[in-house]
Parts: sequence; C-alpha cells; structure tokens
Amino acid sequence: MESDETTRYERLGGEESIEAVVSQFYEYVMADDLVNHYFEDTDMQQQTIHQTQFISSVTGGPVDYSGEDMRAAHEGMGITKEEFDAIAGHLDTALKEFEVPEDDHEDVLAEIASYEDAIVGA
Ligand code: HEM
Repeated sequence: MESDETTRYERLGGEESIEAVVSQFYEYVMADDLVNHYFEDTDMQQQTIHQTQFISSVTGGPVDYSGEDMRAAHEGMGITKEEFDAIAGHLDTALKEFEVPEDDHEDVLAEIASYEDAIVGA
C-alpha cells in the first residue's frame, strides 16, 4: 500500500540514485544497434540530465523537468513500437540492476509506458 509520507521518488533514493539508473540505462541504449543511431548527434550528458529530471518529476520528486514535452521531443523521428519496447527494456534492466523494489520498478515502467502513444509515430 502506498504510504502518505513518501513519494516514489524518495523510495527510489532521490535524484542521485535516479541519475545512476539513468546513466546505466543509456549505457545499454548506446550498446544497442537497433536504437543507438538515434543518439548519434545527441549530447548524452544533457540527455541524462533531462531524463533524470523527467523520471524524478513523474515519480513525485521536487524537480522541474525543463525539456520539451514527450511528443515534441520525439517529433519526426519515426520511432517504432519495437524501438520503444527496446528502450523500455533497457530501463527495465537498469532498474533491476539497481535493485529497485518490485512495486516501484513496475510503477516506473507503467509511467513510462503511458507515454508510448506520444512517442511512437510522433
Ligand atoms: C521509453 C520512453 C522514453 C522516454 C521517457 C523518453 C524521454 C526523453 C526525454 C526526457 C528527452 C529529452 C528532451 C529534451 O531534452 O527536451 C528525450 C529526447 C530524445 N529521445 Fe527519448 N524517450 C523515450 C523513448 C525514446 C525512444 C524509443 C527513442 C528512439 C528509439 C528516443 C530517442 C530520443 C532522442 C533521439 C532524443 C533527442 C536527443 C537530442 O536532443 O539530441 N526516445 N527523450
């Protein structure tokens, strides 16, 4: 049951832990030839900052996400469902590796999955 006092962000260990998961997540993304070409011209340091802010804000953290909205950020990329699933799978693996509790792990993935329609075919 969800406690009134802690947010998922806090249970994940706050911004520092989320950043560690996100850094690992992008290691997997960049090692995956199905999707790494999308990030050829991307400043991955900036990307890690924005992704950490994004996950922090959607998990209830006191963090403002300063990037573009999800549809605008992926507009014109032609991302397929298969590619979306590959990226979500790398986040899944990174969350497992950092031993995020099962409930929080599932909820983070569900939160991310809710952006599928905005990202796939944007
Ligand atoms: C799984 C859910 C996803 C989430 C939550 C997500 C989140 C984000 C965020 C927060 C940004 C930063 C936007 C900004 O800086 O304004 C971004 C940019 C980007 N995303 Fe995603 N993304 C997802 C899936 C994908 C997929 C499936 C691909 C490609 C296969 C992708 C490729 C990119 C690229 C190339 C950028 C732009 C980087 C740049 O500005 O150079 N994303 N995404």
